[in-house]
Amino acid sequence: MSSSSPDERTLVLIKPDAVRRGLVGEILGRFERKGLRIDALVVRAMDGDFADQHYAEHVDKPFYPPLKAFMTGGPLAALVLSGDQVIEVVRGMIGSTDGRKAAAGTIRGDLSLSNRENLVHASDSVDSAKREIALWFPELS
Ligand code: CMP
Repeated sequence: MSSSSPDERTLVLIKPDAVRRGLVGEILGRFERKGLRIDALVVRAMDGDFADQHYAEHVDKPFYPPLKAFMTGGPLAALVLSGDQVIEVVRGMIGSTDGRKAAAGTIRGDLSLSNRENLVHASDSVDSAKREIALWFPELS
């Protein structure tokens, strides 16, 4: 009998700054080389209402209005990744929120110099992954 747990899923957004800078391939490549599976992938833009739903926990924060403008300001790539402990693995790969402080070797640490335009979003828990996957890819839920 295998001792490994069933694979998890997480929701990842490759944000408009990454698309604009031509970094989608670089970022997807890191996830692929890690051994994670891409279960779904779409390029689309978010409108304001959708941004409010995605960032429901942040809508009252002072940084939300410019975050909303940034996230609705151009196309992004939304994807579902799966793999062993994928939620924690991907959070480690993207690094801490502020690209200026994120560790070298992480996506933000290597490629971002901003607290807002930080290239990637990833679900931070099993519950948020379920909620975000249902929002972005209802056909998978
Ligand atoms: P993300 O992982 O998508 O989750 C919330 C986002 O809000 C975060 O990445 C950043 O893009 C942004 N963010 C979080 N904290 C700040 C902050 N203090 N100032 C500006 N943007 C922030």
